[in-house]
Amino acid sequence: MKEYKDYSLLGHNTFGMDVKAKRYVEYDSEEELRALIPTLEGKVLHIGGGSNLLFKGDFDGTVLHSAIKGIQVYLGIGENDEVVVRVGAGEVWDDFVAWAVSNGYGGVENLSLIPGEVGASAVQNIGAYGVEAKDVIAKVEAIDLQSGAFRSFGVDECGYAYRQSIFKNELKGRYAITHVMFSLTRKPKLKLEYGNLRAMLCNNTPDGESRPARGLGDVRQAIIDIRNAKLPDPKVLGNAGSFFMNPVVSREKFLALQKDYPQMPFYEVEGGVKIPAGWMIDQCGWKGKSLGRAAVHDKQALVLVNLGGATSDEIVTLCETICRDVREKFGIDIHPEVNLI
Ligand code: EPU
Repeated sequence: MKEYKDYSLLGHNTFGMDVKAKRYVEYDSEEELRALIPTLEGKVLHIGGGSNLLFKGDFDGTVLHSAIKGIQVYLGIGENDEVVVRVGAGEVWDDFVAWAVSNGYGGVENLSLIPGEVGASAVQNIGAYGVEAKDVIAKVEAIDLQSGAFRSFGVDECGYAYRQSIFKNELKGRYAITHVMFSLTRKPKLKLEYGNLRAMLCNNTPDGESRPARGLGDVRQAIIDIRNAKLPDPKVLGNAGSFFMNPVVSREKFLALQKDYPQMPFYEVEGGVKIPAGWMIDQCGWKGKSLGRAAVHDKQALVLVNLGGATSDEIVTLCETICRDVREKFGIDIHPEVNLI
């Protein structure tokens, strides 16, 4: 266990905010976490890789971080070709994806290169290229931060929806996730329907090489190429990936908008039509523009970046200005995906 007072969180948030936590504790096991519980007083924030957070100032409480590691494989437990794996919440998400792909276990390859850790993947229901964490999660193991009791949540108990879960809503702050069980498969069926993924795999790659879709490794590499081309590296430009969620509007609203914007991209989803916020922000002319030291990424308008030394106020002001412009132009409210702390 590691514990610090007045600890700088600079290395724990990809937006690069130089803020402090009154107390910071990193635990290595469930036993250590249980022992910590009686010492927790005041505000408590459990973080993962800090890749989906924007700190608005110092955190006057305890920041917890899991260093529970390990991947256990339960072959043959599931039906047919299913492989059930139990992964420590503190494992780096992309290390787990790389491990699954190199073992030939399918299910998470489309989620390659998403920053963050395994515990947070189950809180945030991370998603990309047609796959969401909920599609592969079987169970979530957690410890109640009030009583220390263990609880295993079946996937149906997790309240999963687009970037939503019970752990962000009804049970926010109540449980610390210790392990996530994933159901993978030894006979993967590649999922290539999203955007230009099939084209990337079947035609030419950005480096001009022809790469037919052969297996999990090819899908992983194509997704790494797409992400690297569009999303800024937080080590170079502070950011937290997509800053906004993609809004879902009613069919009527969508049809009315489509008359004015026939080229508008959209996806039919349960309950309406999803419109990419990045496209709307781009249409408002914000792509590549800045306000103070906060900017809209020049290759993907859904991502806000810290040009260097931006305060959280500068980022929040940019966020609010963009929301206002999108509302004025399209009559749609967009909301941050990033958690403002
Ligand atoms: N678009 C523009 N201009 C832009 C950005 C996007 O016109 O500046 C258009 C694109 O051309 C495309 C559409 O908007 O037609 C959607 O864009 P893209 O496929 O890049 O996906 P996204 O909606 O911007 C979502 C996720 C990403 C995920 C990708 C791929 C959310 C909030 N974001 O982005 O997730 O990687 O799909 O599945 O749902 C993240 O959550 O941090 C993240 C990066």
